[in-house]
Amino acid sequence: MSNDILKTLKKEHDEVNALLEELNNTTERAEKGRPELLKKIKAALLPHALWEEKVLYPEFKKRADRDGLQTHAEAVQEHRAVELRVLPDLEAASPTSPEFAGRAKVLGEFVEHHAKEEEKTMFAMARKLFSAEERADLDAQYAQWKASPQLNEALAQASEKAAAALRANPPPA
Ligand SMILES: [Fe+2]
Ligand SMILES: [Fe+2]
Repeated sequence: MSNDILKTLKKEHDEVNALLEELNNTTERAEKGRPELLKKIKAALLPHALWEEKVLYPEFKKRADRDGLQTHAEAVQEHRAVELRVLPDLEAASPTSPEFAGRAKVLGEFVEHHAKEEEKTMFAMARKLFSAEERADLDAQYAQWKASPQLNEALAQASEKAAAALRANPPPA
């Protein structure tokens, strides 16, 4: 917690990007290491993404101008791509396969791009749209939500949605 939601989220971007880089530096010999890292990545990425979707993005959308609405739509679409396709496909791959390495690379590229864009565009806009007090309040709300049972509910729902997307459209073998 940093008393500014935008700083907290930026710090989490750095953490998840570092983990993704670590994953992308593994080789097929990391049969156990890769799933362990993937678990850590999900634990860092999903609460962050789900809270953005539940709280930050809708609040931002309410205050956004036309450019802001496009930025919002872009962020939502990138979340959908990662949560419903890129991440589930990676999880479906055997950790020692070339598919795993290829899909991990795509996840790293998507998340890095999304985080950079969010910081440069949406967060820059949000800094003007939300007062320091509001940002501190959101930061406290986020910390509270992460420690609450609502987090587990949100994670369970997200996991069901990801499994359904995978069933509906499985990746090529
Ligand atoms: Fe995001
Ligand atoms: Fe983010």
